Amino acid sequence: MDLLIRNIGQLIQIQDPGVRMVAGEAMSRLNLIHDAWLSVDNGRISGFGPMSRAPQPADQEIDASGCVVMPGFCDPHTHLVYAGSREQEFVDRIRGLSYEEIARRGGGILNSAKRLRSTTEDELFRDASLRLREIASQGTAAVEIKSGYGLDTESELKMLRVIRRLKDTSAITIKSTFLGAHAVPPEFRNDQDGYVSCIIEEMLPAVAASRLADYVDVFCDEGFFTTGNTARILEAAAAFGLRPKIHANELACSGGIQIGVQHRALSVDHLEWTGQAEIDALKGSDTMPTLLPGAALFLGLKSPPARLMISSGLPVALGSDFNPGSSPAGNMMLMMALACIRLKMLPEEAIQAATINAAYAMGVEDELGSITIGKRASLIITKPVPGYAYLPYAYGSNLIGQMLLNGQLIEIQ
Ligand code: NIG
Ligand code: FE
Repeated sequence: MDLLIRNIGQLIQIQDPGVRMVAGEAMSRLNLIHDAWLSVDNGRISGFGPMSRAPQPADQEIDASGCVVMPGFCDPHTHLVYAGSREQEFVDRIRGLSYEEIARRGGGILNSAKRLRSTTEDELFRDASLRLREIASQGTAAVEIKSGYGLDTESELKMLRVIRRLKDTSAITIKSTFLGAHAVPPEFRNDQDGYVSCIIEEMLPAVAASRLADYVDVFCDEGFFTTGNTARILEAAAAFGLRPKIHANELACSGGIQIGVQHRALSVDHLEWTGQAEIDALKGSDTMPTLLPGAALFLGLKSPPARLMISSGLPVALGSDFNPGSSPAGNMMLMMALACIRLKMLPEEAIQAATINAAYAMGVEDELGSITIGKRASLIITKPVPGYAYLPYAYGSNLIGQMLLNGQLIEIQ
């Protein structure tokens, strides 16, 4: 045995093999063992159970008395490769400008695109590596990262190459998403249709040939990409085998959720503007509704109806949306707290949403997202806490005590 964690106060989020997500009422039930042990072999969970039936001592042991041990977070929606920062827009919004108004004036995503185009791959890689190290220290074991600040073929490929380098060098599991349709770049000002044709005819074939993207995304919302253009992109992407994970219904009832479901999206994300029609569309689909409460907090958006989604039988996932414009934070423990405080999700539901359901929303549920024999031993060992509900409750504290990625303890910053 490579490692034995003993005396675990609460070992939480235990799932049988093959469980891919948890929906509806079941989200409020968390499987756990009090006073537990867990063993690791070859970077994977090899056993666990109550201390009353603990195995023989191992060479390497961790005493987790009073601690919660849980699967590392999966963060299924980020834009953490970016150049510079946008605190000036933050100040502009404090003074009264809206996110959409800033975007219309050439700020927002276009501001980040301008900086990204003039930043080298090495610099982007270095900055993003630091962000990865930061979120690993905050408990994240897997992260999805989008392109979308390049907005031309070469710059989008540059972003995707940086993500590939991060995949190759980080112990965090990473999925990459091509988000050419994040904003219309200056070269196509007032010509969204023309830019979408460029995405379909030039960018998508190049991205597919490079094999650098796992998924495709479109910012389908009022003021950004129309449902018609979203459908065009998703159809073209399907021909290359790229499954969608899309931005939808953040700024308006845009029809994005329905378009996503129709194109078998793995997830539809944001969803502040969700009503009964959208919930009905999601029911029975295999699309994961993914909520990003950090962006809603930062932009002062209304809350998505998480309670209605769950009581309607839907699963819900959480993501950070880590990006320089609408959520400059990738802390998933904080996202769980926001889900409890603002979306009225129970701690059990927030934990499901940030682990197994988030793993599903980025296609890593076979490897991560639960305490299951054979899954990667990418685990959070908290500081001593009264119990798991303390995690979203004490939302200002850093409660990560130790963090394992693939069975190896990492340095906590
Ligand atoms: O998810 N909504 C679209 N895109 C990002 C914002 C990116 C930015 O402002 O740079 C988001 O919130
Ligand atoms: Fe986003």
